[in-house]
Amino acid sequence: MDKSKLIKEIERLRKEKNAVILAHYYTLGEIQDIADFVGDSLALAQKAAQTEADIIVMCGVHFMGETCKILCPEKKVLVPDLEAGCSLADSCPAEAFGEFVKAHPGYTVLSYVNTTAAVKYYTDIVVTSGNARKVVDSLPEDEKIIFGPDRNLGAYLNEVTGRNMLLWDGACDVHERFSPEAILALKKEHPNAKVLVHPECKRTVALLADKIGSTAALLKYAATESNATEFIVATESGILHEMQRQAPQKTFIPVPPEVSEGQIGCHCNECAYMRLNTLEKLYGCLKDEKPEIQVDPAIIDRARLPIDRMLELSK
Ligand code: 13P
Ligand code: SF4
Repeated sequence: MDKSKLIKEIERLRKEKNAVILAHYYTLGEIQDIADFVGDSLALAQKAAQTEADIIVMCGVHFMGETCKILCPEKKVLVPDLEAGCSLADSCPAEAFGEFVKAHPGYTVLSYVNTTAAVKYYTDIVVTSGNARKVVDSLPEDEKIIFGPDRNLGAYLNEVTGRNMLLWDGACDVHERFSPEAILALKKEHPNAKVLVHPECKRTVALLADKIGSTAALLKYAATESNATEFIVATESGILHEMQRQAPQKTFIPVPPEVSEGQIGCHCNECAYMRLNTLEKLYGCLKDEKPEIQVDPAIIDRARLPIDRMLELSK
């Protein structure tokens, strides 16, 4: 089927089945263009919690689909490709995390939303990059805290909040590939450009940032808060689609990833998992109402609590 026919069919099926299409900023531009709502992981969870649709199609990665299912267990939650995982979520196996939590009684457990439902089972409050600082600040100063799984976001939060949270040693493969050398090289060519960094990047990269924040925060800064006209972007390059759409007069330069130590590679700074969402698969999943996200009801009951706490604290 050609692209325009695919788009028409997706629109028809979405109406017919009362489905809502949610997409993350890292997905392909053509997916973002057809979605009912595009957002960062916090906004996507908030949207899922409020929707009156019968079917939620999550164009993102598996944990985002699980979050929708946990928030809306009575709804059908579809993802275009069940293989759309997350290297960061993979860096935190639930059993090992459960053991880590058990070995530290008396600690409050904060988990980044980029975790499986089974990890959320062991969690007291879920956070995203968009609200993590606010959530940490809401806890008493002497609270003992475990933070998982992202060591870079955790270290950044320790630095800005003055806490000493115990960190799980996980990371995102895509964000770990950005290097300070690549940013400094771009800065030489574009001395007036502001540097935008996602907090999943290493500290050496974050130190060069003019703005550190979630995808939504970086977008807002670039499109509406900053007067600069050039931006060096150290996060997954899918975000450039919305940046360019909101601020067509500005220039956004993606940071090329480091392919091996000290060697700057191509512009392929993409999350391979997010890119598994295609128009063809979106059409197929709406038509066949599969693949569907399933979460064990016992896990849903427990994992819902830390997500609800996050949504409550983010109001
Ligand atoms: P945001 O919460 O900033 O959208 O990030 C999600 C993500 O997967 C980052 O790699
Ligand atoms: Fe996971 Fe990294 Fe992809 Fe985000 S960019 S979904 S953290 S693998």
